[in-house]
Amino acid sequence: MLKTDFLVIGSGIAGLTFAVKTAKRFPDKTITILTKVNTDETNTKYAQGGIAVVNDLTRDSYEKHIEDTLVSGDGLCDRDIVEMVVKEGPQRVNEIIEWGAQFDKGPGGEYMRGKEGGHSENRILHHKDITGMEIERALVEEAKRFPNIEIHNHWYVVDIITQHHLGYLVTKSTPDIECYGVYALNLHSNRMEKILAKITLMASGGVGQAYRSTTNPRIATGDGVAMAYRAKARIENMEFIQFHPTALYEPGVSPSFLVTEAVRGDGGILRNKDGEAFMPRYDARADLAPRDVVARAIDSEMKRTGTEFVYLDCRQMDKEKFIAHFPNIYKRCLDIGIDVFSKMIPVAPAAHYCCGGIKTDEHGRTSLQYLYACGECASTGLHGANRLASNSLLEALVFAHRCCEDAAQKIDGIPFRDAVPDWNASGTSEPKEMILITQSLKELQQVMSDYVGIVRNDVRLGRAMSRLDLLHDETEELYKTTTVSPQLSELRNLITTGYLVVKSAHFRKESRGLHFNTDYPKKSELLQDIVL
Ligand code: FAD
Ligand code: SIN
Repeated sequence: MLKTDFLVIGSGIAGLTFAVKTAKRFPDKTITILTKVNTDETNTKYAQGGIAVVNDLTRDSYEKHIEDTLVSGDGLCDRDIVEMVVKEGPQRVNEIIEWGAQFDKGPGGEYMRGKEGGHSENRILHHKDITGMEIERALVEEAKRFPNIEIHNHWYVVDIITQHHLGYLVTKSTPDIECYGVYALNLHSNRMEKILAKITLMASGGVGQAYRSTTNPRIATGDGVAMAYRAKARIENMEFIQFHPTALYEPGVSPSFLVTEAVRGDGGILRNKDGEAFMPRYDARADLAPRDVVARAIDSEMKRTGTEFVYLDCRQMDKEKFIAHFPNIYKRCLDIGIDVFSKMIPVAPAAHYCCGGIKTDEHGRTSLQYLYACGECASTGLHGANRLASNSLLEALVFAHRCCEDAAQKIDGIPFRDAVPDWNASGTSEPKEMILITQSLKELQQVMSDYVGIVRNDVRLGRAMSRLDLLHDETEELYKTTTVSPQLSELRNLITTGYLVVKSAHFRKESRGLHFNTDYPKKSELLQDIVL
């Protein structure tokens, strides 16, 4: 058994920022970070475009960033949260700069600012086209400076511990459900450990692996959202899965390599197979319309022309500038035989970001006592029906700070729950056939991609649900009799994630933001969040 004051699940921007802030504030308290693979293998590491922030009020304004976020969110953002994140953002970004994160500067020492879809100004701070790698590097180095932070890699968290594990009946309507820590599989010893914590932060990232084609790395299996749902926490707006318009089209390669939207911000143009720059036909903002609009336009062009991709044309762009800003994309394209100055890049939309998640308030508090959520697994009200590009890293920084501030007020009054029993593995044995897991994963990804993609309708959602029901029943049967492994648990979590997406999509009888249902093509008058 392990005991810690603060338990952090995840070592991306959300988890590490919270850990560093908490460690600084409480040198005498312990902070334990659990990650299921290596510390830096996170969605954060793959972020390309950068971080949206207003840090020069002579060129930009909070009001414009707020307005852009609200327009992109298509009526469902929480305005107070948007204002708070935009206004607190600059201070939080300055903090990670102080901790060593470097963003590109021009010859005069001023920050270079990129542009992406839905932004009315150039405001994206970036580190070439590997911003996430730089932020992750700086945060890991900063976290390692604190002796009271312990990072346990290759510890797979399986479930959140609540009163349920003390033998009480816990339902969604139970008041004051409390989180006492987690059960986690130590993958070094292969032992299931009980970890008791006064405060737990869920910072477990995204869900992209629910789809066949995704920009998200293998770790993005919706574990945090599924665990929180099992523990009876409120989950919100899961129907809003964001598809990035321009993932490199390479059949059979997973995850898909992203071609950042900043390329379009610098002058890249989308063309269909006939060479037509089609975006102006769909939206006056053309290639820099918000992401939901561009992804839907590409989907429509692919269907109309019978192709599996469209092109991103960079041939007209300044060679020197392109290579300086996007060296990684330039090299990756060259590796597959595409010199972007003479050939167009084949691109297609891929599942990229989950705008919904574990519902939190403005302090990152979930509906469970002592459980906070931050980063991509959380639904804070910032993104509404469609996240504005590069607002995710910003949200994680602002909310990690807020979670830390709030938890700091509470920590001293919270006891450990020593009565929590050890994990009960009775009646289970080692899996006999891994194919039962791997094949179900493929089926799930197929169902989600074919029936719950960019364009939906009620028949497809109904089909998806009946197939998910079958996968759920088979997997629960297997779970009851099989020793827990990350593979089995991830499958189970992805099926739960799929279920939450389909169920929320089914309840939303309108088309808004990222959710487009041809049976209800218009927006409803009623503005509502779907909470499960
Ligand atoms: P992550 O960084 O994904 O970290 C999740 C952590 O949780 C990992 O450490 C993982 O090991 C751990 N974990 C998960 N499940 C378990 C478990 N069961 N047990 C133990 N540990 C677990 N956003 C922007 O704002 N700007 C961008 O330019 C941008 N570009 C992007 C490019 C790509 C290719 C991708 C995929 C995303 C991009 N995003 C961008 C989105 C952004 O990167 C993510 O939303 C953000 O980094 C998520 O951070 P996080 O801390 O919430 O989670
Ligand atoms: C990108 O660089 O295009 C991704 C930015 C984001 O997901 O916010």
